Amino acid sequence: MARSRRLEKVCLAYSGGLDTSVILHWLKAEFDCEVLAYTADVGQEEELAGLPEKARSIGAVDCIVRDLREEFVRDFVFPAIRGNAIYEGTYLLGTALARPLIAKHHAEVALENGCDAVAHGATGKGNDQVRFELTFRALAPELEIIAPWREWDLRSRSDCFAYCEANGIETSATREKPYSIDRNLMHVSYEGGILEDPWRAADEGMFLTTCAPEAAPDTPAEVVIGFEQGTPVSIDGEVLGPAALLSKLNRLAGSNGVGRVDMVENRFVGLKSRGVYETPGGSVLHAAHRALESITLDRDVMHERDRLSPRFAELIYNGFWYSPEMDFIRAAIDASQDNVTGEVRLKLYKGGIHVNGRRSPVSLYSEAMSSFEDAGEADTYDQHDAEGFIRLQGLRLPKVSVD
Ligand code: ARG
Repeated sequence: MARSRRLEKVCLAYSGGLDTSVILHWLKAEFDCEVLAYTADVGQEEELAGLPEKARSIGAVDCIVRDLREEFVRDFVFPAIRGNAIYEGTYLLGTALARPLIAKHHAEVALENGCDAVAHGATGKGNDQVRFELTFRALAPELEIIAPWREWDLRSRSDCFAYCEANGIETSATREKPYSIDRNLMHVSYEGGILEDPWRAADEGMFLTTCAPEAAPDTPAEVVIGFEQGTPVSIDGEVLGPAALLSKLNRLAGSNGVGRVDMVENRFVGLKSRGVYETPGGSVLHAAHRALESITLDRDVMHERDRLSPRFAELIYNGFWYSPEMDFIRAAIDASQDNVTGEVRLKLYKGGIHVNGRRSPVSLYSEAMSSFEDAGEADTYDQHDAEGFIRLQGLRLPKVSVD
């Protein structure tokens, strides 16, 4: 691709893996520039110790590691829970939520360190290139973007190995990789490789954070989640910060086989793709949040918000976190959450999430009004009113024959 100017210094999102190690070396050779490595910790649990040394040994001037775990859960995962963001009815968006955050800090690190370009290791067929680059466009349009997978003539993992051998890059990666993994505090995602056949079941050995439902304990786990204005704040009465809360719930739900999903989704670029996900804590938070809304949200506010949720999910999936339409939808969703405060009691059992109770100091639910029993004086619901209500609703219905 033709560059508009000579690049002096490029900031590369570096994971320490095979691809980005090759990219680091390739950038220097291709552009005769300095390369600054940048690594975001979003809870991927990979060894971050030794990463800067590794980057420097391949030729980086430095490697900057940013711990984004708290910000990830507080500013990305929790807003998605508040808005019931679920893509195509199934995917809880773990990867899609982390990308704009990673890219935001990527751009910041690049600008702070005098870089004129950013580079990433996402391929030309996926969603992640779109998410990264839309974020760069929105937040730092002055930075040039380099996506080597779309530019160079390496086509496969074995090409990358050959490149390492030819250029003396040491790698601990294995030649065969059965699938691609993306992990953070919200989820683990698996796709590609042997998962590309949508009929073939995933191997049990693949899963990192959940046990199989049938291998889960025979006694259910009970858990109470507390929310304030739609935001999860406590587990069993213990107030926890965002990252600690989600980690704790991941362990509890994962050990009960909760949160696995296997689906074929529509990528923004127009391809269908098979993905397998583990989102243990996130699945529980979605179920709990919905249950709390059932007693704290006004019916019509809930239904209006429900119309926004699929669009909100689509914007997250497609990479438009930083966009005017997202600001608009997020403001509307947050306004719906003012009253979503209270607790939900759940039972986790062999992969299932069962809501067993909900309560709130600001509940809109009235036992007296809903009751089948006579509530006496307290009852403002006059059953005679229902007769006229139904008659007027039925006025416009044409007579139809049912046989
Ligand atoms: N399909 C998911 C998404 O677009 C995950 C993508 C990254 N996952 C991976 N295993 N490389 O959000």
